Amino acid sequence: MRRLFFIGILVAAISSAAIAGVVLYRNTGLSDAQLAVARSLSLASLPKFRPDPSNAVGDNADAIELGALLFNDTGMSADANVSCATCHLENRQFQDGLQFAQGIGNTTRRTMPLRGVAYQSWFFWDGRTDSLWSQAISPIESAVEHGFTRSQAAFHVIATYRDRYFRLFGLLPELADIPPASPLGTKPSRQTGSLCAKIFATTSTGSL
Ligand code: HEC
Repeated sequence: MRRLFFIGILVAAISSAAIAGVVLYRNTGLSDAQLAVARSLSLASLPKFRPDPSNAVGDNADAIELGALLFNDTGMSADANVSCATCHLENRQFQDGLQFAQGIGNTTRRTMPLRGVAYQSWFFWDGRTDSLWSQAISPIESAVEHGFTRSQAAFHVIATYRDRYFRLFGLLPELADIPPASPLGTKPSRQTGSLCAKIFATTSTGSL
């Protein structure tokens, strides 16, 4: 008898869950075709991940670890207070919930969530970048985000992650005498920027 009672409760629980499911489904007010479109947009519907052929270290565990350290490193900003994680918060699908992102200064755009970003072909609200690795330099050199230059970033990476970096990408030339360099900066800093690009292109492994 006792057994029957428990089975009864179980059946009742299952049927009310099923009814609730149907009601929930009906309450969306969406047609089957619309629901199918909505489901296709879910991260759970993404196909098996295909490695990026333009990134030689994309699946390298050491590079992934270095990337995570850099993502959270406030040392790569003008006031040593801003990292990628300042705006891209892991517990908020890597966005910040603000109307406009705030870094060194106030930006005029909303932070984008980064969940599933590895599957995208275009990045930023205006799609101005076509690879994840090449987009990363723009927040670093934005005056209102990290407020840094690429030469400062190179100094910081070598000073802080020297061995990890060299193991992955090979040796870099001595950087100590290179002045600030950025394509977004003053004329001398733009000229140094293109000189740096030439030095790095000829001395690095070219794996990036
Ligand atoms: C000050 C806040 C802020 C910081 C710091 C920041 N981001 Fe962002 N991120 C944004 C905003 C705002 C956008 C949209 C920018 C745009 O469209 O111009 C964005 C967009 C992106 C995107 C594009 C996502 C998509 O779906 O297209 C990626 C990837 C990204 N950020 C990664 C990074 C990385 C990596 C760093 C660190 C090197 C970083 N961000 C630092 C605010 C920030």
